[in-house]
Amino acid sequence: MYNSKITGLGYYVPEHVVTNDDLSKIMDTSDEWITERTGIKERRHVKEGDGNTTTSMGVKAAKIAMERAGVGTKDIDFVIFATLSPDYYFPGPGVLVQKELGLDTVGALDVRNQCSGFVYAVSVADQFIKTGMYRNVLVIGSELHSKGLDMTTRGRGVSVIFGDGAGAAILSREDDTSKGILSTHLHSEGEHAEELSLIAPGMGKRWVNDILKDNHPDDISYYPYMNGQFVFKNAVVRFSEVIMEGLQANNLSPADIDMLIPHQANLRISQFIQQKFKLSDDQVYNNIMRYGNTTAASIPIALTEAWEEGRVKEGDTVVLAAFGSGFTWGSTIIRW
Ligand code: ACO
Repeated sequence: MYNSKITGLGYYVPEHVVTNDDLSKIMDTSDEWITERTGIKERRHVKEGDGNTTTSMGVKAAKIAMERAGVGTKDIDFVIFATLSPDYYFPGPGVLVQKELGLDTVGALDVRNQCSGFVYAVSVADQFIKTGMYRNVLVIGSELHSKGLDMTTRGRGVSVIFGDGAGAAILSREDDTSKGILSTHLHSEGEHAEELSLIAPGMGKRWVNDILKDNHPDDISYYPYMNGQFVFKNAVVRFSEVIMEGLQANNLSPADIDMLIPHQANLRISQFIQQKFKLSDDQVYNNIMRYGNTTAASIPIALTEAWEEGRVKEGDTVVLAAFGSGFTWGSTIIRW
């Protein structure tokens, strides 16, 4: 048996900064409302002509992670790509990464678990490495939300929250099983699938022919829907549960956490968890103020920044936790 260890991290965000004041010029919202409810001050959006796609942002993050891990294209055994905003409905971006990076014809898997996508992807990579099947797995979380949001007052409850960006990690084989990823715990509850969802394009509700024929200007099924308060209430419960589940599985308590990287859904959710577990500001990383909610990309972007700032060090107990659409949620406990 082996463990897997994160040996390289990278992130990329588009240059174009969109502040709360920018949004208040195109919809009925305000810096005050957004800051008070979410903690977000600004986010990044791709710009027409900047060449950014979900795949290309993921590839930029991946190149940084690979360089830091000291692995070349020949060393990557498998790709896992988590996103809810793929370039194409199919095929998913995993195969596009294989092409863009010029990898051998290694396997490429797409993960569809929204805000929990990175935690799910890390768990899959971890299992492949633990069994000895692969030595180095490239895990990417990338989202291009801005092209798909309703940027009018009708969509303000959702569109002010999300931002674009990508993060990547290299997971590599580690012989010392007291190090690296100690555990992952994953959950789902499909009963609430439509509380946070994007119904179209999908074959469940509509015939594509009808959509094309009707071309309804008021069809909002192509925009994400979120029952915000219901999601919030479930998020605080599930975040807490799954962090405790991971800690207990490793005979750890909240006091043992050196760094908690929660999925950046809402600063109020992170603050609730921080208070509940009596963690200091040093023990929790938040960057939602600068990037908004980048869904599958949020944890790898935050983890990379925390590592770059020296806030994640050898021997630290690092906890990743996520909750989102599905509902899905999960945690990862790492001995860095
Ligand atoms: N600007 C100004 N007013 C707004 C805005 C806005 N951007 N958005 C909504 N409002 C208004 C509403 O219309 C409503 O007005 P009303 O009282 O006159 O009807 C009022 O503000 C309150 O709206 P709520 O939706 O009840 O606001 P809430 O306090 O719940 O905050 C928020 C909304 C920020 C979305 C919050 O519910 C939340 O963060 N939920 C959890 C999000 C989350 O964790 N998502 C999971 C990950 S995402 C993923 O998996 C894809």
